[in-house]
Amino acid sequence: MTRGPTIVIFGASGDLARRKLIPALWHLSARGRLPGHFRVIGTGRTGFGQQAYREHVMDAVRAAVPDADAAQLEGFAAAFSFVRMPEGVSFHALREALSPDGQCGDCIFYLAVPPSLYSGIAAGLAELGMMDEKDGYKRLIVEKPFGYDLDSAVALQDALLSCCREDQIYRIDHYLGKETVQNILAFRFSNALFESVWNRNYIDWVEITAAEELGVGKRGGYYDTAGALRDMVQNHMMQLLALVAMEPPVNLNPESLRNETQKVFQSLRPFERASLADPVPAVHEACGPGRPACIRGRYRGYLDEAGIAPASTTETWVGARIFIDNWRWGGVPFVVRTGKKMPVRVTEIVVHFKRTPHILFRNSASPQVSNSLIIRIQPDEGLLLTLGLKSPGSGFGLQQIPLHFHYRELEGTPLSEAYERLILDCINGDPSLFIRGDAVLACWRFVQPVLDAWTAGESPLAEYAPGSWGPELGDLLLPPGEHWREPCRVLSEDGVCHL
Ligand code: BG6
Repeated sequence: MTRGPTIVIFGASGDLARRKLIPALWHLSARGRLPGHFRVIGTGRTGFGQQAYREHVMDAVRAAVPDADAAQLEGFAAAFSFVRMPEGVSFHALREALSPDGQCGDCIFYLAVPPSLYSGIAAGLAELGMMDEKDGYKRLIVEKPFGYDLDSAVALQDALLSCCREDQIYRIDHYLGKETVQNILAFRFSNALFESVWNRNYIDWVEITAAEELGVGKRGGYYDTAGALRDMVQNHMMQLLALVAMEPPVNLNPESLRNETQKVFQSLRPFERASLADPVPAVHEACGPGRPACIRGRYRGYLDEAGIAPASTTETWVGARIFIDNWRWGGVPFVVRTGKKMPVRVTEIVVHFKRTPHILFRNSASPQVSNSLIIRIQPDEGLLLTLGLKSPGSGFGLQQIPLHFHYRELEGTPLSEAYERLILDCINGDPSLFIRGDAVLACWRFVQPVLDAWTAGESPLAEYAPGSWGPELGDLLLPPGEHWREPCRVLSEDGVCHL
């Protein structure tokens, strides 16, 4: 068999490697998707013997795939080895393990470590020539958070670019690896029916929700230094927004796609400082520029969670009203919200279409009908379109009728995990679903005024009850007279929800 790539995992004993990367590699290998004879080298500060590491790999697979075939699993684990790299030790041992015959070949370096270690690792690799591509490609995968704010993101970007080229850096946003997120592109650009109404003339507002049922759990230490804005909005929510709002790319080349999402980020209307201030006085200003544009909340009981600083002001919920200043979207609010300890884990986009210009069916018993399209990212992945139709009987009473499609009803391969797709794309040198450096910086530039206002204590933390949809103040973000949708776990239970 031909020699395949070597995947080096920094942080090999960590949570990400165990829960996501090793199972993803297993699935790819089991489906024969990994090219040639691949190797995986795990590295970490503390040691594993070779056999102990292989046991660790097999345990990680069994935890994700309880019925994994034992013999196949042994073969899979045999491709793994471990190199111990205690702090302060140079990268010679890794270099040695990588190129027993003097050739590194194709290599992917996966940095599953805290971001504070990214630049040191990149420098260590570059110093010993391991980012050199004379005997095969060399790619670096980094996870979010890419920086802590705009300045640190710029510094990190500069540090990485002093060790390798931009096209060698694959920045992961695992949302882009989700099949249903990619489907936004397919849905938008393969259905002329929708593309022709996908603009400010027909769309009233867009609602994007990423709600989580769980709290911070065991990740308090990390989360308390990040908060919902850095953890979810700067990256995942911005990517969803960009896919909904982007112009059709000229083709599916990675740069065509990424240029279009970058144009969306460049068109985001900057937040005005006044719109980030204490929202309470703004309640009295009916609407217009006085309304808050971004609100933060924290679930009751957060301070009692493990790893949270007693005087923490970290937010676990963020809502924001965002405008995209271009011809397609001028004046259309995109209202986004994300939070922990909400009623149900659900990520979805709701496109609210405008009402008919003339209301023909004026019947007090009929609801005010307008169409909405729900793109459900998870769970119960699918689409739902509401239509106004006549209720049976005399007169012209109207009903909102949902038309729905569920991914689970499609024949074929089951939806794969985001990491499988992303690792495979990196092996194949396709960066389409990875975030380009300029996009990361554009998103930080957009959220930085919010971080500044919060650091200056200009906006209070609104408390919300665990299991609720967030702070009541969040309603101020909506267009007048509108309500947040309260989604259910099952898409088609819309309106008769059993959470
Ligand atoms: C991660 C965040 O990037 O995304 C987590 O750090 C969050 O806090 C997670 O829980 C949500 O991802 P998913 O795929 O479960 O929606």
